[in-house]
Amino acid sequence: MQLSGKVAIVTGGGSGIGLAIAHAFVDAGMGVAICGRDQSRLERAAEELHGNVIPVACDVTDENQVSALVELAVTRFGHLDVLVNNAGKAAFGNVADLAVERWDRVQAVNVRGAFLCARAAWPHLTAAGEGYVFNISSIAGKEGFGGAAAYATSKHALMGFSESLREEGIPVGIKVSAICPGYVDTAMTAKADVPPEAMIRPHDIAATCVYLLGLSPMACVPEVVMRRMAL
Ligand SMILES: NC(=O)c1ccc[n+]([C@@H]2O[C@H](COP(=O)([O-])OP(=O)(O)OC[C@H]3O[C@@H](n4cnc5c(N)ncnc54)[C@H](OP(=O)(O)O)[C@@H]3O)[C@@H](O)[C@H]2O)c1
Repeated sequence: MQLSGKVAIVTGGGSGIGLAIAHAFVDAGMGVAICGRDQSRLERAAEELHGNVIPVACDVTDENQVSALVELAVTRFGHLDVLVNNAGKAAFGNVADLAVERWDRVQAVNVRGAFLCARAAWPHLTAAGEGYVFNISSIAGKEGFGGAAAYATSKHALMGFSESLREEGIPVGIKVSAICPGYVDTAMTAKADVPPEAMIRPHDIAATCVYLLGLSPMACVPEVVMRRMAL
């Protein structure tokens, strides 16, 4: 895909990995709609990105808000080529102690949100002829972790969603990749027992997305597992 002039929606694009992906897309000459629930943070991010960017307040668990996000992006830019399902939520605690509401919220943001966004974006990605969906999963989508069952379950579900969507995309020219990083230095890992300097950088995920977008039409990478350099 020639990136200049292409258009992307990056959910959770106001911070962390999403912001780094938006940066990389803007640098490549793309138009980008970033979404999240915190409008003022999105506006600060859009200013920082200093490109063809629109900040759109949107809760990805809300069907109407997601439809409005996609329509706004298409109206503003004229088309849609790339969706990055990056918005995510983590909740930690052993299963026996985990509140049902926290469990439900993690599944809603990480799984329902990706489904709603892909469903709303699909007709536009199909119309563009060569679309791309990135699902930002996690190492926790490949392995379980005690104390992180809600998160690991949601990210495993996202892997199943991603693989199913990948098959549906083949006949209509839409590629789908799941990205599965280990610890990345963002707000989400601020309280992790790993120093930031020992973590993957958000830019590494962004550079991976740009690299995958640049592959030739017949090459699709279903998943990328990115581990940090530590045992
Ligand atoms: N950091 C890591 O170690 C790591 C590793 C593997 C995978 N990941 C995944 O990477 C993705 C990005 O996380 P991050 O590390 O960059 O953390 P982050 O900075 O906390 O980003 C999470 C983003 O999701 C948005 N968000 C949360 N709930 C939302 C909702 N209901 N609707 C719309 N947006 C929502 C947040 O914006 P608002 O609060 O404004 O809504 C925020 O911008 C997540 O899916 C995460 O699971 C992270």
